[in-house]
Amino acid sequence: MSNHFIPESVFLKGAKSFGSPFWLYDRATIEARVREVQVFDVVRFAQKACSNLSILSLMRKLGVVVDAVSAGEIVRALRAGFQGGVGKQTSQIVYTADIFDADALALVKEHNLAVNIGSLDMIQQLADYGIRTELMLRVNPGFGHGHSRKTNTGGVLSKHGVWHEQIKDCVKLAQKNGMWITGLHMHIGSGSDFEHLAQVCDAMFDLSRHIGGHLKTISAGGGLPVSYHENEKNEKIDVQAYYELWNNTRKRIEQSVGHSVSLEVEPGRYLVAESGYLVSEIRAIKKQGDNTFYLVNAGFTDLVRPSFYGSYHKISIIAKDGRSLNETHPAIVGGPLCESGDVFTQEEGGFVVSRELPVAQVGDLLVFHDTGAYGAAMSSNYNSRLLAAETLYSNGSLELIRERQSFEHLLQNERIIEL
Ligand code: LLP
Repeated sequence: MSNHFIPESVFLKGAKSFGSPFWLYDRATIEARVREVQVFDVVRFAQKACSNLSILSLMRKLGVVVDAVSAGEIVRALRAGFQGGVGKQTSQIVYTADIFDADALALVKEHNLAVNIGSLDMIQQLADYGIRTELMLRVNPGFGHGHSRKTNTGGVLSKHGVWHEQIKDCVKLAQKNGMWITGLHMHIGSGSDFEHLAQVCDAMFDLSRHIGGHLKTISAGGGLPVSYHENEKNEKIDVQAYYELWNNTRKRIEQSVGHSVSLEVEPGRYLVAESGYLVSEIRAIKKQGDNTFYLVNAGFTDLVRPSFYGSYHKISIIAKDGRSLNETHPAIVGGPLCESGDVFTQEEGGFVVSRELPVAQVGDLLVFHDTGAYGAAMSSNYNSRLLAAETLYSNGSLELIRERQSFEHLLQNERIIEL
């Protein structure tokens, strides 16, 4: 949960200036999280969590590098000032995916990008395209964990990563085509619990022996959890302890390969989740039987996590007129979409629940907390809804970092053909 206080007046002013719903990111929170994780040699931001150009540019200024999981993310990274190239220095952009599409292959070649391979076929496709670059292997160690089944990225039911028994084949195929595997990467899930970390570290050590002398980098992947629930406030992950476990693994690997090995971490949510707020406005309050519904002007087209995973986001209300909000009652919070699943207070499996919230009025702001990761980044145009504006709160002022989408923009690629 974010610990940087932002005055209510900032949210009210933002809604007036930029319209609602809008996203607000707090720069100070991002900087604090980045500094914590910078005990690792390299912090690589998983930009899929929040890929706004200003956020990427802030990361770059803080000494963070990025991964890119698509051609579009490569283009974003380049636009934000990260550079391609592989060599002695840490690669600023690494393409990490389980497949290439034509755009990604072309960009990897043009900008000489390092690639984190998630499927054996990718190695042959690089070679066929005339690319000789440094490779990391994203390994599926045969097990995985996540905050939801949908964020577990290891084991036989996961499509991610090279199956651990195929590492030798990858090494051979790379060498045959004049490439070296210089990195091993393991991301077994998002929001995983760290009881399993020792198991992951041991798997990394075992697998490193297949790479041998060329190994320069190991990556712990992402997945560092954040506390979304008010009750979990004191359960913040111990980053130092997490680092120590990985650092010990790195040392064991260094001993076995006989040279130094760089230790990377690849968080998305940990760096940005708590910095973000989705600010909506209550547009209707209605009773369905005994249930009170607050209907707001943001939907799962803005924040999909509750509908998709049953994720919990803290909700607060800001009175439009400064009145005090002492009285509370149970309420269900829904959005504007023509879909019954467009409800923010639901649990995994789609069970709608109510939440104890202040008694509110139409026109009050309703704010979803800890939405900086996989919030705006997972927004869509379903129901022909416009993507909301994004703003950054920095040194006491609120700056627009993405304009609200226009109707013109919404329709610009469509054609009405003669029939
Ligand atoms: N590295 C790799 C290879 C990944 O696949 C991911 C996330 C990350 C790093 C960053 O994971 P993080 O540190 O953010 O947990 N939409 C879901 C999360 C899906 C994550 C997919 N991969 C959510 O809203 O919780």
